Amino acid sequence: MSEHDDHAPARGAYGGGDGGTAVAELPPVAIQVTSEISIASQPPKKGEACTMVILGAGGDLTRRKLMPALFHLQCDGLLDPEFAILGVAREPLDDESFRRAMYEAVKASDEPNGAGKIDEDQWRQFAPRLGYVSGDLSDRRTYANLIGRLERVEQQREENDGRLFYLAIPPSIDSTVIRELSQSGVAPRVDTPEGRPWVRVIVEKPFGRSLDSARALNAVVERAFAEHQVYRIDHYLGKETVQNILVLRFANSIFEPVWNRSHVHHVQITAAETVGVEHRAGYYEEAGVVRDMFQNHLLQLLALTAMEPPVAFRADAVRDEKVKVLNAIRPIAPEEMHTYSVRGQYGPGTIDGERVVGYREEPRVNPQSQTPTYAALRLMIDNWRWQGVPFFLRSGKRMPRRVTEIAIRFRRPPTRMFSRGDGTLAPNVLAIRIQPDEGISLCFEIKVPGIGVRTTSAQMDFSYDRAFGGSKHSAYETLLLDAMVGDATLFTRRDGVEAAWRVVDPFIAAWESRPATHFPNYAAGTWGPEVANDFIARDGASWRTP
Ligand code: BG6
Repeated sequence: MSEHDDHAPARGAYGGGDGGTAVAELPPVAIQVTSEISIASQPPKKGEACTMVILGAGGDLTRRKLMPALFHLQCDGLLDPEFAILGVAREPLDDESFRRAMYEAVKASDEPNGAGKIDEDQWRQFAPRLGYVSGDLSDRRTYANLIGRLERVEQQREENDGRLFYLAIPPSIDSTVIRELSQSGVAPRVDTPEGRPWVRVIVEKPFGRSLDSARALNAVVERAFAEHQVYRIDHYLGKETVQNILVLRFANSIFEPVWNRSHVHHVQITAAETVGVEHRAGYYEEAGVVRDMFQNHLLQLLALTAMEPPVAFRADAVRDEKVKVLNAIRPIAPEEMHTYSVRGQYGPGTIDGERVVGYREEPRVNPQSQTPTYAALRLMIDNWRWQGVPFFLRSGKRMPRRVTEIAIRFRRPPTRMFSRGDGTLAPNVLAIRIQPDEGISLCFEIKVPGIGVRTTSAQMDFSYDRAFGGSKHSAYETLLLDAMVGDATLFTRRDGVEAAWRVVDPFIAAWESRPATHFPNYAAGTWGPEVANDFIARDGASWRTP
């Protein structure tokens, strides 16, 4: 790195004073939307006349995410009149009791339009779409019942576009269910994307738990289906601002010329959560933060930020570029791990004024657990665009604030014409806020009015909420609709999943082979272990406090 002055505290809207001739922090300048919204390149989507089969309809994901998303698509008039949903789970329910359970789930959900209220009229139209098949997913008879039910639904329909299967099941039974779906004839292979009726399968994360297991699962999938039938879902890709990364980069011409090693000092990608492990200790103890957040969400954000322009906004063109950049991430040797990563686990602390227990005291967590709940990785991308530019990725549970953002930190001006007495000038930062308060801000230096030249930082800020009243659809709504219309752009392809495991596997392997004697090493309610600050400081940078 050529710059060594980044230890100076950040200023202006990014907190901290400059120790010199500081002036009051300036409020961000709001950016307005100035033109008609263009939808010419992509007509609004509407779901097709298909049946969605949710395998694992008794689970959390169905109640908290899938059903609220489907209901809100209904409220927005985006479902085909003949669209139907079949839930499959072990509980002995009939259609009516399944509908009642889903009504309660939607009402309780905190997704957009949910939160304790429900549009009763819309629900009356939605409820008849729901049916239920009770059965054990490892039992062949379940699939025989399912096929009978599916055929009855399809016979009643004037047009039948296809079947959409959603695997909302524990990863341990992914392979079994995929085999059974295929062998029973419930979900036949369709050779071409144009084949009708279509059959698509959405597979939830985690997709495997290592490169080897992901490859093995991909092999099972490949024997059952053609790749175009498979939708590996990562809900981050359905978030509004995540999709906006591509628009920001490739629908504008001013950013791309500076989006490279000549102008960018480093990139920081943060996904901080205030929640702890919640009720998911069983899963999380086995997964840890790298499998849970980095292999999928954070690496997807990195790929969108760092990829080359695709030749078109088409599924394979976009995914080709994402895979290329993931494959360019420098492999790390086991003995170098400490220079490229920091791991952490939260101890007791305070969040929003409330005392919370440490990870090891959470229900069903091993009191000596070695599972990391925080990680920071330094990834280098060995290609022409990014050579020498570190990408710092960090994610943790029980941090002070829930925030996900990508910050592009630009290099300082080559000469120091202006300074603040202490020699510092705040660098330009372009921050893409994924959540909450989705938006984009650009921080730059300006002159303070008055005699003499003093500088301070100003911020141009675009907020989705102020401009559009927030995002209308949840990530799951976007992605379910995409799967219904056969648009796989926001889903991960086989090679993409494997490329991401290739990046994180060495970190996981190194950590699992060396016990973390220093755990817990950060208090709940803080921004992670102290050592993470020294880690990023080695590159002349410091973590942002978003
Ligand atoms: C999930 C992880 O994929 O993403 C959870 O399994 C995490 O541990 C969640 O809490 C975060 O998603 P979001 O949309 O709340 O940022």
